[in-house]
Amino acid sequence: MSEIDAEVASARIPDVPGIVALVDRYARHGEILPRTQEEIYQTIRHWVVAKRMGQVVGCGSLVVLWDDLVEIRSLVVAPEFHGEGIGRRLITRLLEQATELGIPQAFALTRQTGFFFRMGFHQAPREALSRKIWKDCIFCTKFAGCDEVVVVRALQAATEKTSQGDGRVQMTASVEPGSTPVSR
Ligand SMILES: CC(C)(COP(=O)(O)OP(=O)(O)OC[C@H]1O[C@@H](n2cnc3c(N)ncnc32)[C@H](O)[C@@H]1OP(=O)(O)O)[C@@H](O)C(=O)NCCC(=O)NCCS
Repeated sequence: MSEIDAEVASARIPDVPGIVALVDRYARHGEILPRTQEEIYQTIRHWVVAKRMGQVVGCGSLVVLWDDLVEIRSLVVAPEFHGEGIGRRLITRLLEQATELGIPQAFALTRQTGFFFRMGFHQAPREALSRKIWKDCIFCTKFAGCDEVVVVRALQAATEKTSQGDGRVQMTASVEPGSTPVSR
């Protein structure tokens, strides 16, 4: 790692103001949903950050929705640091955490489909996420006209369970046929 590379790590309390500021840069233009400082403190264990010279330049969070589904949420990199591989490192870290938890599938609601496809995600029908839709989306002001795309990716845990004949995971895997792991 060179001196100017960003460091990716689990978020700590001192990172919260930086996360709030970064999320707000995108939320104020409607690109992602806003997150309050209080909400981020309460969910601090869910967050990872990328820091460069001590400043938060990227962040993302992992929200477990059920035993078979986890959401990648608020994944953002400061515009001046786009294209440096920070988004890839953040999502890799979040997916590693999801895999460690034993969750077989991750998803995101996004307009950045190109990035997520590059990270091994595939588009899925909205109906695949009924729990998410009913739990959070109905409270969103954009619910009726939402233009975000559902992208999903099977995780290593799904492969392991499927090979052991776990029928429930085989069912969820059918949402995302042909999923391929990130190769680098
Ligand atoms: C999406 C985002 C997090 C990507 O972060 P980043 O640090 O610029 O991405 P990386 O440099 O790690 O890119 C990894 C790969 O994805 C590709 N990629 C990145 N953004 C892409 C896009 N919009 N379309 C297609 N490919 C893209 C990169 O070219 C790179 O490809 P490579 O494998 O050939 O090197 C960043 O653009 C962002 O913050 N966007 C605005 C916020 C947002 O909408 N976030 C998603 C919320 S769910």
